[in-house]
This record gives sequence, structure tokens and C-alpha cells, in this order.
Amino acid sequence: MFWFRKKPVMVPLTMGAKDIHNHLLPGVDDGFKRAEDSLQAIGKMVENGVKEIVFTPHMNPELFVGQTEAHLREVYADFSSRIPAEWGLKTSLAAEYMCIKDFEHRASDPELLTFEDDSVLVEMSYYYRSPNFETALFELVMAGKKPIVAHPERYLYMAECLSDFDRMAEMGCRFQMNYMSLTGAYGPESLKILRYLKDRGYYHFAATDLHTNHQLDKILAINVEKDKPLF
Ligand SMILES: [Fe+2]
Repeated sequence: MFWFRKKPVMVPLTMGAKDIHNHLLPGVDDGFKRAEDSLQAIGKMVENGVKEIVFTPHMNPELFVGQTEAHLREVYADFSSRIPAEWGLKTSLAAEYMCIKDFEHRASDPELLTFEDDSVLVEMSYYYRSPNFETALFELVMAGKKPIVAHPERYLYMAECLSDFDRMAEMGCRFQMNYMSLTGAYGPESLKILRYLKDRGYYHFAATDLHTNHQLDKILAINVEKDKPLF
């Protein structure tokens, strides 16, 4: 079963007004550890034009054992109250779901942390393809969710089967690029994937996937004109 192909949208090559993928919620995954550091990064992002942040901590039961959506909601409620109101920042809580075995069975789970119109951010390992990835995306779509594939250009093993992305796009999936991928830091296969998706207009979002303040400095230093020839 296939859905209509989405109208191509060009991703911004500079930091956009909205960041839909980051690990800024402190103390819950491998991202920011201290609220102070997170607030520092958020302040810098606001200075650079960011008006909205969707927090997307990892939900990966194999790596962050015992993590629950309820706990993330509690941490978010506490942390978001510490963001200065005068920054005028809109925030919300979602998650980055690792497509582990049986993840597809959670497609209709009301606990799933989604944002806006039931968008769900889903990732795979950098090292191997989740055998149930497309099944999970399909089940999410069937459950009325809008899956977003996190940083597809980081899954280097996909460089040899690029047309599989067409199936995901036809299913109604959207794709999110990491800013850092623009630099070519992840190698030629990553750029091959990035070009394929960009040329077809599959990227709907560019995001920081931010884990540290150091990473933010690197993202802010990306030279758009210099990096453009990568495409
Ligand atoms: Fe991430």
C-alpha cells in the first residue's frame, strides 16, 4: 500500500527557527548532563534565531534501561520551568525512539511521546539496519502517526540500497538531516545518502541532534557557502 509522495521541501542550510531533534533535556540520556549546560546551549540557540525546541531524549530500552515516558515527562516539566520566559521560546517534549525488536508493537501506544500532529522521531543503529524498520514505520502510519526518520545520512549501510528510501517516502515518512552531516564529517557514503535524499526533496527537517555545547559551537561554525559544493 502506498501513499502520495510529499511535495519536495528544501531544508534550510543554516540553523532554522525550530529544532526537532536534540538531547538538551538534561540528565536522561547520553546528551547534556547538567541543567546549567543545557540552559547555556539553549540561550545560545535563542541568540542564533531558534524560536522553538522539541526535546527528543533517547528512548532505547537496550541502552537506557528502565527509561520511561512518564519519567521524561516529569524531568521536562521541571526543566522547562527553568527556561527564562523572556527568551520567548516555545518548547515541547517528544523522544527519539530506537527501532529495537518489537518496537512496531508500540505504534498505537498512547504513551508514545509525539509532537505536533502525532509526529514520531525514529532512529536505527549506525552499525546495522533494524530488520523491522519499515514494518515499524508502516505500523506507525497505520496508527495515524507521522514517522520522521532521524538522520538517515548517518546509516552508512543504506548507501548501497538508496531506493529503499523511496519506499519509506511513499509510505508517508519524512526525513530529518543533521546539520553536522553537511560538513562531510561522516564520510563519502553519508554524503551519497544526503545527496540522494536532498535531490528528491525528502528532507523536511534539519536539526542539531545536539549532545554537548562543543557540538553546538561546531554547528554554528558551519560555513554554508563553503559546504554547499558538497551537494
Ligand atoms: Fe539523537
